[in-house]
Amino acid sequence: MSGVRVLAIAGSLRKGSFNRKLLAIAVKLLTEQKAEVEVADLQALAMPVYDGDIEEGGFPDSVNKFRAQIAAAQALCIATPEYNHSVPGGLKNAIDWASRPPDQPLKGRAAILMGASTGHFGTVRCQLALRPTLGALGVFVLPTGVTVPYAEEAFDESGQLKDPKLLRQVSRLTEQLISFVKSYPQGL
Ligand SMILES: Cc1cc2nc3c(=O)[nH]c(=O)nc-3n(C[C@H](O)[C@H](O)[C@H](O)COP(=O)(O)O)c2cc1C
Repeated sequence: MSGVRVLAIAGSLRKGSFNRKLLAIAVKLLTEQKAEVEVADLQALAMPVYDGDIEEGGFPDSVNKFRAQIAAAQALCIATPEYNHSVPGGLKNAIDWASRPPDQPLKGRAAILMGASTGHFGTVRCQLALRPTLGALGVFVLPTGVTVPYAEEAFDESGQLKDPKLLRQVSRLTEQLISFVKSYPQGL
């Protein structure tokens, strides 16, 4: 039993999201690989848009909850779409709230990135944009990511990836995340 604690986050809020499907696949694999997985649902959390005046009055409950979920985890598994060649605003907003002192909870977490988009590049530009942001906050993002292009054709009716190669990529990436965290028993 690895017991590695992973927080899973989808960068899309909509119910029928391809990235929620991709995240569900990763969560199942992580669980089979003996990780302890919690999901941070950005749609349910409904954090306000970051505003320094709100912050002055104290973090909203939703922000406190999200920050506590990160603090309790050793690693993050993020499945996110790409919006206009970059990070979706909802996910960036959540990271911005998490980035604020005191006790910035992202520092020292490991992370893996994956994403599904209807375009040809399968979120590669979003992942490239997300890496420096997470790196600046002390997150160790694993070098490989999974990109799922043409997402409307990529999943079957039960939400599984049709391409076994992509499924193997997700499985390898989740295994790498667990191994990476376990290779630093004192924490990152
Ligand atoms: C505001 C917006 C911007 C988008 N920009 C891109 C883009 O830059 N590249 C891309 O491949 N797809 C883009 N798309 C299409 C998304 O890949 C597609 O909507 C996808 O289904 C979103 O992920 P989801 O299914 O998890 O919600 C965009 C969609 C929206 C709503």
